[in-house]
Amino acid sequence: MSFPTNFLWGGATAANQLEGAWNIDGKGDSICDHVRSGSRKKARIFDDVIDSHYYYPSHDGIDFYHHFKEDIALFAEMGFKVFRLSIAWSRIFPQGDEVEPNEAGLQFYDEVFDELAKYDIEPLVTLSHFEMPYGLAKKYGGFRNKKTIECFVHYAETVFARYKDKVHYWITFNEINFGTLSHGKKAVLGILDDSVDEETCFQALHNVFLASAEAVNIGHQINPTFKIGCMIAYITMYPLTSKPNDVIECQSVNRMINLFCGDVQVKGKYPYYMENYFHKKNINLVISPKDRDILKRGTVDFYTFSYYMSTCITAAKENTTTTAGGNLFGGVKNPYLETSDWGWQIDPVGLRFTLNEIYDRYQIPIMIVENGLGAEDKVEKSGKIHDSYRIHYLQQHILEMSKAIDDGVNLIGYTPWGCIDLISGSTGEMLKRYGFIYVDKDDDGKGSLKRFKKDSFQWYKKVISTNGKNI
Ligand code: BG6
Repeated sequence: MSFPTNFLWGGATAANQLEGAWNIDGKGDSICDHVRSGSRKKARIFDDVIDSHYYYPSHDGIDFYHHFKEDIALFAEMGFKVFRLSIAWSRIFPQGDEVEPNEAGLQFYDEVFDELAKYDIEPLVTLSHFEMPYGLAKKYGGFRNKKTIECFVHYAETVFARYKDKVHYWITFNEINFGTLSHGKKAVLGILDDSVDEETCFQALHNVFLASAEAVNIGHQINPTFKIGCMIAYITMYPLTSKPNDVIECQSVNRMINLFCGDVQVKGKYPYYMENYFHKKNINLVISPKDRDILKRGTVDFYTFSYYMSTCITAAKENTTTTAGGNLFGGVKNPYLETSDWGWQIDPVGLRFTLNEIYDRYQIPIMIVENGLGAEDKVEKSGKIHDSYRIHYLQQHILEMSKAIDDGVNLIGYTPWGCIDLISGSTGEMLKRYGFIYVDKDDDGKGSLKRFKKDSFQWYKKVISTNGKNI
């Protein structure tokens, strides 16, 4: 096992799934505050007007807002070197278009970063993790409107300046490539209208690229030592068969979903295959020479991604019955892989393959900022939680990470998702847990909110203390 000595071991979270306190101390509502809880079988419902008869999981999260000292002490006990969190944009700019920030919101993150510093834990901060202020979506149509770029850049500049000595690692947009999928419109683009066409969505995504690139430029001016990264949801894809048409189809889907956004953010320009796609589909994007210059100058310093699963792609239309589950994208079932209880295909070897593919393509440092097994945990009468299945999943993935490092990949960090149980992004459940730390809360929002260490807590502590030698 060969992890570099300064390898950043840690864990990852997002404000809307963690913090709660959705309307406290001046925070405005974000898009995710309008999404009701769902389940494995029931899709989450978006409400334009928040209705007190329903349960909205982001409103309470796991109440990190009032428990952060206790939670950070537990992360420190595990030996975390880094903690990934997001800033709730609407805590800083409640409606999104204010000139002056909300001081109480800024102070909250000051306290969080100071607490992390006590234990020498580096914050890794996502500026937007599906958390656009609702006001921007409602008033301007989200990133359809250039005004939202201006508001995002003002927000980025505000937090970069405020935390310039406290935060060194930043991510602009979580899983930006979700914006290429029709069901990613709200989360990434801030477009509430489900009926908008493809051209409108790609134009909005272009505006997200511009917002990201401008933030990178400003961030580097404020503190030249900042490391600012992109974040891609990587769904590794294999052709279902060796039929050449499956290979071609796989190449095409892979480019659109996994490669396009990273290519723009790392290489600073639109790839030829997307220019060609737009041309063939008669999608006429307005991209000015100035825009192209902003993209060119605003390339990221490192590449981060989430990795939970792989899938298969086929050109055969009749194969739709074997659709696989997934976080953003299903694809077709791989007969050689097992799945999680939520149908996500588990593929540790795919992680080694993916790391090599990414590094070969971009040649910049890489961080895996989400990975893990969403599973139902059982609390024994003794209060213990024996999550050997989670340990097994993570062991296999860490092993493949070490092989990728031996292959020569410059992997600098690993933050497994939901290091403390939090609400599920896709379903809103608490039933689907990822953490090393159990939080007593159920799908209806009831529970003591007490924190308990699972078996995986001690296991991960050992992994970190031996720098990955003892998994
Ligand atoms: C990623 C998101 O897609 O997957 C997270 O960035 C999300 O917000 C994570 O929670 C896991 O998905 P889920 O649906 O199991 O919570």
